[in-house]
Amino acid sequence: MLGLGILISGRGSNMDAILTSLSGKTGKVSPKVVISDKADAPGLRIASEKHGVPVQVVPAEGLRGWEYDSKLASALEAYGVTPASGLVCLAGFMRLLSPEFVRRYSMRILNIHPALLPSFPGLHAQRKAIEYGAKVSGCTVHFVDEGTDTGPVILQRAVPVGESDTEETLAERILRVEHELYPEAVSLFAEGRLAVQGRRVRILG
Ligand code: GRF
Repeated sequence: MLGLGILISGRGSNMDAILTSLSGKTGKVSPKVVISDKADAPGLRIASEKHGVPVQVVPAEGLRGWEYDSKLASALEAYGVTPASGLVCLAGFMRLLSPEFVRRYSMRILNIHPALLPSFPGLHAQRKAIEYGAKVSGCTVHFVDEGTDTGPVILQRAVPVGESDTEETLAERILRVEHELYPEAVSLFAEGRLAVQGRRVRILG
């Protein structure tokens, strides 16, 4: 059984989509904990009240790098999200993970990014796509490596960028697709169907 830990900092709509996709299933994934670095993240209530998943706040309190991430790792491991059998999903978690954490959970950390990587990495991806004049953008689920939004791509889906789009309308259109794509990627991972060869991720079966 794959022990799932989800890291959030805010509204948690991707977390909600993942947990909803797992609810009622006696599948291969067991949601163990939702952790936030922000005590006021609205997603915490959704996790505990709607989904009955334990939540924990690991406040940053000025801690940086592995100083902070070691607390994160301890919290995850205390709930059974281990480097050997766990999966960590970043869902709007607004911190960069240290190399130590990434190596500890090597190829067991997923992230969703609201653009078609390698276009528009980092913050404000939707705004960057509009300002660039892109006609198509979308979202990417990828493994997390030591860079920012640079890890091997698992799934991508495109959405059109309209001439009258604002950052908000594009973000909304992309978010609807994120909510389908992230649960799909989690389920492919849980079924052992992701074969990573260098940068390329083959989907088996
Ligand atoms: C999403 O747009 C996701 O792609 C990005 O952060 C946002 C998180 O939204 N990484 P939510 O907290 O899941 O609603």
